[in-house]
Amino acid sequence: MVGRAVAARLDELGHEVAIGTRNPEQTLSRTEPDAMGTPAFTPWQRANSGVELLSYSEAGAHGEVVINATNGANSLAALEATGGRNLAGKVLIDIALALDFSEGMPPKLLIASDDSLAEQIQRTYPEARVVKTLNTIFCDVMVNPSRVPGAHNVFVAGNDESAKTTAKSILNEFGWPSEATLDLGGIEVARSVELYMPLYFTLHGVLGTFDFNIAMVRTS
Ligand SMILES: NC(=O)c1ccc[n+]([C@@H]2O[C@H](COP(=O)([O-])OP(=O)(O)OC[C@H]3O[C@@H](n4cnc5c(N)ncnc54)[C@H](OP(=O)(O)O)[C@@H]3O)[C@@H](O)[C@H]2O)c1
Repeated sequence: MVGRAVAARLDELGHEVAIGTRNPEQTLSRTEPDAMGTPAFTPWQRANSGVELLSYSEAGAHGEVVINATNGANSLAALEATGGRNLAGKVLIDIALALDFSEGMPPKLLIASDDSLAEQIQRTYPEARVVKTLNTIFCDVMVNPSRVPGAHNVFVAGNDESAKTTAKSILNEFGWPSEATLDLGGIEVARSVELYMPLYFTLHGVLGTFDFNIAMVRTS
């Protein structure tokens, strides 16, 4: 659902977009929702005909910017299938979270405290320019921040300043004003934004919606 939300919005904004999948034929042949209730891909693609469906490696080769919106427990496998050569030198925006829902809500974090998924990705692909962003926000709000009224914030973290500039300009296109984007520092800061997840899901339980976000309030 995240990949589709981001792809549809980028397509709407005039970018050339491809979604990667393990097996395009299998993905296109599915007619039923998946285990999480996400509807089959084909009807979505009919409504979003500008977005191509490719294998992971083809999508990696296609992308000037690569966005990791895969299941976080399997992101390293997905990126391996994408191929290190297709990631080298590229901005790799990481939205994913390594979550374990096996014991219900809130999910447990599979990576926590002294490491993060984004750092694992950066270590595995040192030539990729990883930027962690958007993972603290529901996907429909990621690409349309005005769903949540008032001023609220999105975080970026990463080691490469120009990659963060590229990510910030995409956020800007999505509708995030420049002042809403808080650059938290290097990729190690991804730990803190990934650790927000138990609170995020608890807030969802209390509020009964995912249409909420963090707003920074300060005295000066
Ligand atoms: N939902 C939100 O609003 C939200 C907000 C913040 C962050 N996130 C994070 O964003 C990511 C995407 O969320 P989602 O709900 O769209 O994810 P999802 O449906 O669970 O997974 C997205 C994709 O991961 C791929 N995948 C699953 N297992 C794989 C494996 N073993 N090897 C390779 N690829 C595999 C699948 O590709 P195939 O097409 O091959 O099946 C699937 O389409 C997650 O990490 C999630 O935690 C979500």
